[in-house]
Amino acid sequence: MPDGTDVDYDGLIPNNVDLNHDLVVRRALETWHPGYIDWWNDMGPEGFQQALVYLRTAVSVDPKGWAKFDYVRMPEYKWGILLAPGVDNRKIPFGRHKGEPVWQEVPGEYRAMLRRLLVIQGDTEPASVEQQRHLGATAPSLYDLRNLFQVNVEEGRHLWAMVYLLQKYFGTQGREEAEELLRRRSGHQDTPRMLGAFNEATPDWLSFFMFTTFTDRDGKMQLAALAQSGFDPLSRTCRFMLTEEAHHMFVGETGVARIIERTCAAMRAAGIADATNVGAVRDVGVIDLPTIQKKINLHFSLTLDLFGNEISTNAANAFNASLKGRFREDKLTDDHELLGDTYPVLRCVNGAIIEQQVPALSALNMRLRDDFVDDAAAGVGRWNKVIERSGIEFRLALPHVAFNRRIGEFTALKADTEGRILGDDEWARAPDKYLPTTDDNLYVTSLMRPVRETGAFAGWIAPPKVGIDNKPGNFEYVKIEES
Ligand SMILES: [Fe+2]
Ligand SMILES: [Fe+2]
Repeated sequence: MPDGTDVDYDGLIPNNVDLNHDLVVRRALETWHPGYIDWWNDMGPEGFQQALVYLRTAVSVDPKGWAKFDYVRMPEYKWGILLAPGVDNRKIPFGRHKGEPVWQEVPGEYRAMLRRLLVIQGDTEPASVEQQRHLGATAPSLYDLRNLFQVNVEEGRHLWAMVYLLQKYFGTQGREEAEELLRRRSGHQDTPRMLGAFNEATPDWLSFFMFTTFTDRDGKMQLAALAQSGFDPLSRTCRFMLTEEAHHMFVGETGVARIIERTCAAMRAAGIADATNVGAVRDVGVIDLPTIQKKINLHFSLTLDLFGNEISTNAANAFNASLKGRFREDKLTDDHELLGDTYPVLRCVNGAIIEQQVPALSALNMRLRDDFVDDAAAGVGRWNKVIERSGIEFRLALPHVAFNRRIGEFTALKADTEGRILGDDEWARAPDKYLPTTDDNLYVTSLMRPVRETGAFAGWIAPPKVGIDNKPGNFEYVKIEES
């Protein structure tokens, strides 16, 4: 069983970590469970806790068939602890301990560092559920409502994943951290979540799709880096989380693509060729492309801040300690120690943006952010294909990494979305020009009305190409009335 292919699905907590024979941890998790359910009921999806939702639940870690789909009331969802199967004779792939057998226990010298990594990752999971809790009220279809809830229950499971590691490997301190993870609240003045983007509001569905496109993609990058860890239980945990994460980004990226598709179709039907004629586009009840661009600018820049300082000794230490690797570390062909290497980093020097070579070890945040930017740019490219196919002349783009930053090199820089340094006057006008204005937000909000008839969609978003679990277009993804 500990090799992690069989899942014990019968108990309170489905798992493939043999909880039945690990009574201390089982008791810790069972003690934590009621608090988690209280948190879910208080801070999880508002108003749909008794609805039957067509959800996938992880019942295996076999890549070929790990999930089953069925109607579930969310508070009864089986949040389990699932680690990807162990790899025989796995060796630490990077850092000071490269080539040594992976650790099954936490090395004493790295306890504090590892605990911090787990807590930061763990804190993001419930945060996003809190940020999204009001969205059910305005879902544009039952299909989208179900996707929202799927993302929410899986973020809940990701919290379980981190809490398991804390409780199993960090004793009393781990149990205290697990309690704290339920105590902090997104956006709360006194007890906020740990990272900025997870304290922002997610007020509408365009924001939700942008968040799942960009911020869940940060999650993917962080999990991919932690999946390389020399601490094998963390590696296995993150590898399985990544299979779920892919769906979150799918929800975001296809959500935005469907909005763009609908906007372009409505523009064509109304004979509007100029995408910047915002008034005309809004008159036909869809979201104009310039507003979509502004939302990209906002969510992309907020997400970049999650990567931390470009030059970071913490990142270097975590790599040296063989705890957190690079994106796809095992596919890279250098020496995986980086001791004498350099990496190009964009820096702010005398108010200008210049590229500098810095020691590769201290530039690991920057490197992960670069990998993120490449990944995100591919998604924007797919959105542009949708616009292109409609024949409308407009291109979406990622803003420059120096735009609208609160953390790192560019915090003090007055840069526009192209990375040009602005004078004071231009800078004063920049927020309205590049970020959603109150008017933009009010317009988007005005479109947010719930659509709950089976198979129907709000007028500002196109239906998906295929259903979830290959269900037909008129499938009832959420049974709201059957409480
Ligand atoms: Fe997650
Ligand atoms: Fe996610």
